[in-house]
Amino acid sequence: MRFPENFWWGTAASAPQTEGESSSHGKSQSTWDRWFELEPEKFSGVGPETTSNVYNCYKEDIQLMKDMHLNSYRTSISWTRLMPDGITVNEEAVQFYRDYFKTLIEHGIEPTINLFHFDMPWWMMEKGGWTNPQITTYFEEYARQCILHFGDLVKHWVTFNEPLVHVECSYISGHHYPAIHDLRKAVVSGYHTILAHAKAIRAMKGVRNDIKVGTVLNLTPVYSGSNQEKDVIASQKAHLLIVRSFLDPMVKGIFPQELIDLLKTHELLIETDVADLDIIKTNTAEFLGVNYYQPMRVQAPQKTARVPMQTLDDLFVPFVWENRRMNPYRGWEIFPEALYDIAMMLKHDYQNIPWYVSENGMGVADEARFKDDAGMIQDDYRIEFIQEHLEVLHRGIQEGSNCFGYHLWTFVDCWSWLNGYTNRYGFISLDLDTQKRTPKKSSVWFKSFIENQSK
Ligand code: BG6
Repeated sequence: MRFPENFWWGTAASAPQTEGESSSHGKSQSTWDRWFELEPEKFSGVGPETTSNVYNCYKEDIQLMKDMHLNSYRTSISWTRLMPDGITVNEEAVQFYRDYFKTLIEHGIEPTINLFHFDMPWWMMEKGGWTNPQITTYFEEYARQCILHFGDLVKHWVTFNEPLVHVECSYISGHHYPAIHDLRKAVVSGYHTILAHAKAIRAMKGVRNDIKVGTVLNLTPVYSGSNQEKDVIASQKAHLLIVRSFLDPMVKGIFPQELIDLLKTHELLIETDVADLDIIKTNTAEFLGVNYYQPMRVQAPQKTARVPMQTLDDLFVPFVWENRRMNPYRGWEIFPEALYDIAMMLKHDYQNIPWYVSENGMGVADEARFKDDAGMIQDDYRIEFIQEHLEVLHRGIQEGSNCFGYHLWTFVDCWSWLNGYTNRYGFISLDLDTQKRTPKKSSVWFKSFIENQSK
């Protein structure tokens, strides 16, 4: 498989999942820091303070990236580190991020920097987080400060990582603070997120025009459980709510009329301002990152939808495909073929926007059991997983999809939200007690895969 020249080979992570030092060097609390303090029993043993300590170890990690011939990396800035009260810029944070980004560049690794990876500042959460319209103004200013301080170094920016997730987990499924079930709040916070994305692009491009600003979405085709009309209709509704809800406004600048109609039918349509809709229309993503782990399969619910709708189950419910192949270590389906469908969807329905696989990977619980006598994790399952996904991606590129890179989640095993360190994803394993980094077999394989690209 030969990929295009200058293809991005790299990995992704985020500030809250890697930096550590979450209550020092001038940083204020994020919602995760605060939630862990309030309800530690919800977390799998480890809070956000204890991570791979990238704040202090970034030089070592970047050297390991270079050793693997990786040429790109995505992480995020911690809003609460850069602007602890939302107004004042923390000079120590500016120095840290400038050194971090400069070191990446000096090692031939192109940084893509994300503004928001689920880490809502606590001061903003106390005011309602994404449900409060004021957040769009604070976020716009934060975005502007990022370009003022780092725009000379970093040329690729993304506004959000998986915005659907903070909306869904905070206001529907209960995995993020405030962990309540309120569909109206979900719609409001989704709308404010989309407006914040557009305002951030306006502010960032207003400071410098030599940067590219995109966004990262978790995308999957929605597969219907059968060809029966009721299941197909259920899958179309899921596609509108899960895929097009963010993709269309963030990339095309408009909300799909079918989505507006669906929300109206279920009494969930909210008031919007014409001037705000105009900002959304005129400030769209220049490129897209696609996080893909597992496909979505749905079928029609048994019961008729309630009005107003109470839960998403009123419209569609999960479908378990009897032929599915599972990652038994994480409980997620493995279905590489979806990457081809995504590639074609972006080519045909989204003006063949430049995009890359910004996250793909295999989480494995209790991974230390796969260590050999020399201490190296023999993660052949991960090698096979990556290889299969690359094969499908390659086919999509050959058929004209505008994909420019592949990033694995993640580089060094990282902390993950309520799951802590349960699922390990990295090319490099982390001993949490000693902070020792040890390359896994997949890192050796990926390095030679990259080497072969230039032969
Ligand atoms: C992605 C997120 O959706 O999934 C990451 O962007 C997250 O932040 C990753 O860590 C893996 O999820 P988990 O729950 O298995 O750690």
